[in-house]
Amino acid sequence: MNQPTKLGPRAYLKKLGFQFDKTPSALDRAFLKALSADERDAVEDIWMRKHSGFGHVSELYSVPRTEQQAALLFSHDAARMLATMSWFADVVDRLQPRTVLDAGCGAGYLLRYLRARFPSIRFSGIDRQENLVAIAAADEGLNLHASSFEEAELGDRFDLILSDFGWDNQDIPKSNKPHSSAEIAGAPYCPGCSDDQVPFFLALLERFKGWLSDDGRIAIVGRFPNLGSIRALYLAAESCDLRVQPDGFEVLRVKTSAGVEKFPAFLLAKNGAKSGSLQLETIAAAYAVGSRGIAMVEQDGNRKI
Ligand SMILES: C[S@@+](CC[C@H](N)C(=O)[O-])C[C@H]1O[C@@H](n2cnc3c(N)ncnc32)[C@H](O)[C@@H]1O
Repeated sequence: MNQPTKLGPRAYLKKLGFQFDKTPSALDRAFLKALSADERDAVEDIWMRKHSGFGHVSELYSVPRTEQQAALLFSHDAARMLATMSWFADVVDRLQPRTVLDAGCGAGYLLRYLRARFPSIRFSGIDRQENLVAIAAADEGLNLHASSFEEAELGDRFDLILSDFGWDNQDIPKSNKPHSSAEIAGAPYCPGCSDDQVPFFLALLERFKGWLSDDGRIAIVGRFPNLGSIRALYLAAESCDLRVQPDGFEVLRVKTSAGVEKFPAFLLAKNGAKSGSLQLETIAAAYAVGSRGIAMVEQDGNRKI
């Protein structure tokens, strides 16, 4: 068996071609340069539609065919990826699962890093974007599925399921309810917008739960932009008998070019796991105040609690 890598997330991603010091426009130029003429036209069309409000950034996921192209595209997200890779590595280290599934694994950066860090664990990944899964397959030791969650027939059960921004936010249906305001632990949210996100997260979590071993855990980090979306995930988890673990909520605060962004991170278990659970009020207070259970992750991927 291979020795565990001594590289941290930043050095590991750099080895795969990530660029950490380029501006967003320099990254875009480098990405275009790495494409064929046809691919360049397709990307410029996506950018144009995105700027006019008709396209979405996730359309770009279908473009990369090579490690270099993928690394340049996803370098835009490098600061966030360092933070989440570091958090997931800590979770794996703490839980010592035998089997791990990364749901929405994309080009497999998290999976490949974790497998290099924990070579004795069996890692699997699933993503509907076939071209990205093909890039992840550079690590032949991964068990990969190119499929949507909805269509996948996974025979296995997993000790740990990871979701690192593993869905596309534009798939969450827009709320039609009028805006209003309510509070949890003194923190405001819009009940209509929050309620209307619950079915999306419920469908996602039910799928993940079906792949989970009896005492398994689901670790989720995502772009939950406000308390309403955090509440939606929490209520969806409750509806399918999953609970946020007592030490299962953190807010990763990441320095990006847009300022400091907050990314909530959850650890869920089946209700039968007798370890207790966190109340929504505790989570809302921690999210609002930003003092308890908050991890600051610097650009180098080191966590500063
Ligand atoms: C925001 S990207 C994140 C990719 C990767 N986890 C990362 O951290 O860079 C979301 C990924 O989830 C995948 N995805 C979204 N919805 C999916 C679904 N229903 N079934 C399978 N994959 C899905 C997309 O194809 C995309 O690769």
